[in-house]
Amino acid sequence: MLLVVEANYENMSRRAAQMIAAQLRVKPNSVIGLATGSTPEGIYEELIRMHREEGLSFKQARFVNLDEYKGLSPDDSQSYQYFLRTKFLDHIDADEKNVHLVKGRGFQPDEYERLINSFGGIDLQLLGIGSNGHLGFNEPNTSSKSLTHEVKLHQKTKQDNGDGRFFKSADDVPERAYTMGLGTIINKAKKVILVAGDRAGTGKKLRLLQEL
Ligand code: F6R
Repeated sequence: MLLVVEANYENMSRRAAQMIAAQLRVKPNSVIGLATGSTPEGIYEELIRMHREEGLSFKQARFVNLDEYKGLSPDDSQSYQYFLRTKFLDHIDADEKNVHLVKGRGFQPDEYERLINSFGGIDLQLLGIGSNGHLGFNEPNTSSKSLTHEVKLHQKTKQDNGDGRFFKSADDVPERAYTMGLGTIINKAKKVILVAGDRAGTGKKLRLLQEL
């Protein structure tokens, strides 16, 4: 494990983006596991910049992601599919046939797990961390063996995501979601980059990690 503490959010984003770019240079058809939330936004911005200014190509990359709110459609502006497309995928040269996002409707967790297996696992998974320690939407006490599954979101998660950054209030956040399991992440991701930072630079996420 490599722990990197950067001076600020921009440096953290740049460093993580460089790690993802390095992965793609070594293996252009890498399976990249995407994350949503505020923390990775700067990483996506930097990857888009590298694509535009430095010719970084995602043409052969295969994409999966961590999670999605149950019931939300891809064109719902609160869905994670919408987030990933508008903040990242629409701005790079990703090949649509290589984009496999968790769906909020008609989603089959077992099928997703089989898809990941068929890829031989995930070459690099990006992770954020919730203020209650959740990874993906694996809330505290989720089995470390869990595979992709449906979850009931904790009230704390609903409050965090209903603080105006995403949903207006906790009541607007869907009750349930789908998430890659902890077992999926632990056993099928060959590399993991867990980012804990925030643009406001409060150091809150880093302190949380130190407490865990
Ligand atoms: C998002 C996800 C969540 C977030 C976590 C932190 O795909 O799986 O675990 O990473 O809730 O979110 P932010 O970055 O908004 O603090």
